[in-house]
Amino acid sequence: MALRTQVGIVGAGPAGLVLAQLLHQAGIDSIILEARAREYVQERVRAGVLEQGTADLLDSMGLGERMHREGIVHHGIYLRFRRQSHRIPMSELTDGRSIWIYGQQEVVKDLIEARLAAGQQLYFEVSDVTPHGFDGDSPRLSFSRGGESEEIECDVIAGCDGFHGVCRPAIPDGALTIYNHEYPFGWLGILARVAPSTDELIYTNHERGFALHSLRSPELSRLYVQCDPHDDIARWPDERIWEEMHARFATEDGWKLDEGPIVEKGITPMRSFVAQPMQYGRLYLAGDAAHIVPPTGAKGLNLAVHDVKLLAEALTRWYESGDDSLLRGYSDACLRRVWRVQHFSWWMTSMLHRLGGADDFENQLQLAQLDYVTTSRAAMTTLAENYVG
Ligand code: APR
Ligand code: PHB
Repeated sequence: MALRTQVGIVGAGPAGLVLAQLLHQAGIDSIILEARAREYVQERVRAGVLEQGTADLLDSMGLGERMHREGIVHHGIYLRFRRQSHRIPMSELTDGRSIWIYGQQEVVKDLIEARLAAGQQLYFEVSDVTPHGFDGDSPRLSFSRGGESEEIECDVIAGCDGFHGVCRPAIPDGALTIYNHEYPFGWLGILARVAPSTDELIYTNHERGFALHSLRSPELSRLYVQCDPHDDIARWPDERIWEEMHARFATEDGWKLDEGPIVEKGITPMRSFVAQPMQYGRLYLAGDAAHIVPPTGAKGLNLAVHDVKLLAEALTRWYESGDDSLLRGYSDACLRRVWRVQHFSWWMTSMLHRLGGADDFENQLQLAQLDYVTTSRAAMTTLAENYVG
C-alpha cells in the first residue's frame, strides 16, 4: 500500500530539514527521504557562517537554543592584502546586523533532533528515489528501503537533494536553462584542534593564492587555501599545509598563526551554477539542487534556507486558501535573491583569488578594488550589507 503525505521531500540537508520543520509548524504533513545514514549527514563538515536572517529564522522556529549557547556572534571581518589587515565593521555599517559562527552540521543535528522529537517522518538510507507524475496532479516518489520497494503519494514534491540529486535531472530536457561557471581553482580546507589565531574571519589575497582563516569554537579553527581543484589531498601532508598557511597569512607586523593537529582535510572544487526556473509542474527545487555558489561569500546554506522559507509560505497559503499565486511565483521570487548572491559570491571570489593565468594587470586591479573596498565607506557598506544578508 502506498504511503500518503502532503509534501514529499527529497534530501535531509539544511533545505529539506528547514522546509519540513516550517511545514510542520504550519500544520502541513511531510515525509523526508534521505539517501545517507543519519551519522553521515550530521558529521559532514561544511561552511559555518549564518546570516542574521538565517539565525533569526532558526530562533523563530524554536531551534536557536544551542546556537545561542555554542555559536559565536561576529560584527566584522578582515580583508588582508599587501601583508596588512583591514577590518570591515559590518554591524556598524548595517544598522547592527551581524553573523553567527555555527557549523552547518550543528544546524543539521538540531533540525534532525527536532524532527524526530516531534514524531515526524524522516527515512534515512533509502535508495532509488524517483519522482513521478509531477507534470500532472498526482505526484509520487518511489524508493527502496531495506530491500523493499515503496511509494509515497503526495500533493507536491520538494527537490532538496543537493547538486548531485535526482530531482533536477527528472525535469524534462529543455525545460530548464542552465548557467554554469567553473573556476580554475578549488579550496583545500582543514579543521584543526587549535584556538583560532584571530577574533574575526580573515580573507586574504596573496601572490601565492587566496587563504581564509575561519573558526568553529574557542578550540577549533577552520582554514582554507586556494589550490588546484584536481590536486590530490595525499600530496598535501600537514607540514606542507601549514607552510602554505604561514606564507599566505604573513603580515608585515609579525602576526602569528598557531598550529594544531589537523582533524579533517579535503579539497572542494568551486563553481557558480543556476538552473531556472526552480519549478516544473508540482516539483519545486530548493537549495543546492537549483543553485551553487562559490564559498567565498559564505552563502550556500543561507540561500538554501531563504528558498525554503518562501516555499513554506507559498504552500501554507495554498493549503489554507487554495490561492496558488505564491506557488506560481516561487521561482521568480527565489531567483531575484539567487542572482544577487551569485553576483556577490563571484565578486568576492574574483577579488581575492589568484586567477588562472592572471597577468600583473589583473592583480593590480584586484589590489585597487581591495584598496577601495577598505577605504570608501560606500564600498565597504556594499560588501557589509551583502555579507550579513
Ligand atoms: N535520494 C535521497 N537523498 C538524496 C539524494 C537522493 N537521490 N541525492 C542527494 N540526497 C541528499 C544528500 O545526501 C544530502 O543529505 O540530499 C541532501 C542534500 O543536502 P545538501 O547537499 O546539504 O543541500 P541543501 O540542503 O540544499 O543545502 C545547501 O549545503 O552543500 C551545502 O554549501 C551548501 O551550505 C549549502 C547547503
Ligand atoms: C567556514 O567557516 O567554513 C567558512 C567561512 C566563511 C566562508 C566560507 C567558509 O566564506
